[in-house]
Amino acid sequence: MKGHDIVEKNIGLMTVLVIIAISFGGLTQIVPQFFLKETTTPVEGLKPLPALVLEGRDIYIREGCHVCHTQMVRPLRAEVERYGHYSVAGESVYEHPFLWGSKRTGPDLARVGGRYSDDWHKVHLFNPRIVVPESNMPAFPWLYDNILDGKHTAAKMRALSRVGVPYTEDDIAGAEAAVKGVSEMDALVAYLQQLGTLLKEKR
Ligand code: HEC
Repeated sequence: MKGHDIVEKNIGLMTVLVIIAISFGGLTQIVPQFFLKETTTPVEGLKPLPALVLEGRDIYIREGCHVCHTQMVRPLRAEVERYGHYSVAGESVYEHPFLWGSKRTGPDLARVGGRYSDDWHKVHLFNPRIVVPESNMPAFPWLYDNILDGKHTAAKMRALSRVGVPYTEDDIAGAEAAVKGVSEMDALVAYLQQLGTLLKEKR
């Protein structure tokens, strides 16, 4: 009883003890994820993003696409019927940072790869209203004009390989040549077209 009296009369001590008690709840949920094979093993066929696709991903981040689009199909019937196979952790093991997102102003894009033609994406990104008249997605016409020089692509791949993405020396050596002279539009579309294709449900 005595010990408990002390805690009840000392709000500072109680706050600290409450935080410790709650953190155990969090830890028991989070820590095992680091050791589960299911969450740390890449899905079959997963490869690091090729140089051009990697640049496309950076454009996706720069333009804030992830602010309106999630890349996370939840395991709910309505989602799976609309988008395809639900997202699994093994698809994201090479993603730094992951782009799961939290707000769906537009549709989820986790499985958009192959759903439309390259031309559809280009027109849509140039001005969404041309193909979807009721769209309130912003237009990104400058993607046509901006041409990549690939100067930093190898360094980006090197940084990623330091956190465990298995790029080979050949991948890194060929990075600049693979990217140089390509428009940001083509890089972004290359990125979109491979999204989720490894686990796409056959329909
Ligand atoms: C302000 C919110 C917003 C931003 C930012 C945004 N989008 Fe969208 N996006 C939407 C909305 C709303 C739709 C649905 C209407 C349409 O298809 O245009 C959409 C639709 C799409 C679709 C079609 C998806 C489908 O399954 O039909 C693609 C692909 C897409 N966006 C890609 C992008 C990319 C790439 C970027 C960044 C360059 C981006 N969006 C930025 C709101 C946004």
